[in-house]
Amino acid sequence: MTDQALHPSRSPHAVAQRLLSASAAHSYDPDTEIDWDAPLAADAWFWPPERLTLYGTPLWERMNERQRIELSRHEAAHMAEMGHWFELAIIRLFARYLMARNGLDARAYYALTEMADETRHITMFGRLLTRLDRPPHWVPARVRYPFPLAAALFQDITTFTSALIIEEVLDRLQREAAQDARVQPLVRSVCRLHVSEEARHVSFARAELREAVRLASRGHLARHRTLTALIAAHTVPPLLRPVRYGEVGLPVRTARRQALHNPHHRDTLRWCGEKLVAFLIEVDLIRPAQHHLWRRSGLLA
Ligand SMILES: [Fe+2]
Ligand SMILES: [Fe+2]
Repeated sequence: MTDQALHPSRSPHAVAQRLLSASAAHSYDPDTEIDWDAPLAADAWFWPPERLTLYGTPLWERMNERQRIELSRHEAAHMAEMGHWFELAIIRLFARYLMARNGLDARAYYALTEMADETRHITMFGRLLTRLDRPPHWVPARVRYPFPLAAALFQDITTFTSALIIEEVLDRLQREAAQDARVQPLVRSVCRLHVSEEARHVSFARAELREAVRLASRGHLARHRTLTALIAAHTVPPLLRPVRYGEVGLPVRTARRQALHNPHHRDTLRWCGEKLVAFLIEVDLIRPAQHHLWRRSGLLA
């Protein structure tokens, strides 16, 4: 018996209907929900220190409190900039998904609702970047330039896995930052608003992904297992590891090397990927043949 026959409430249509009701009841406008004019708190962290890429490294031990806080501002800005670009990418992939589908039903209406959420989030991340007063942290060229070409190969499996890679990884970090009393209230407000709406996006992507896998032929599934693993390997490291440490006065090569080999940072990556990897194994999208690529992403031990 299929998963849908066993759990009719998990069908993509039923999930989309539930999510449409939840969106109608709990959607937020960051322009009015967040106090953008409140002054930043003196001496507050911009991100939980234990989640910073250099936490616990020899460089970290040499930094004073002010430099560490400045690094947290740099890393929070990096995350906002990556969120900004990757959510634009999600909108583009969703537009393709909708244009390839026949008709307008709850699934299509929810996809449109999610695109509207992402539009507000992108604006919110932009406003946060302005308040953090950091120079733009561009998504690396090796991700930006191939994206339009690679996206031409994407179909539903890869579209929704890509969305989950970004959403589940950021969700884990932002959920924790939102609860952390040491973190700037502005950053916590942005994280709180984002995770509350992203929880719906994760449910939608998971339901759509189950359906796409159910309908896929063996060959199609095998190709998309490889494609999604390649995407994880190439997008997660730049998403979570800023490389422009020179902006906070650190020796760039040393900082990059120490971040790359930092056991705390490696643990953070694995923690970020825990739920996502378990789900992708469950739906048969990660097999041992893809483990080396998922390890390269840092999300798999
Ligand atoms: Fe978002
Ligand atoms: Fe999202």
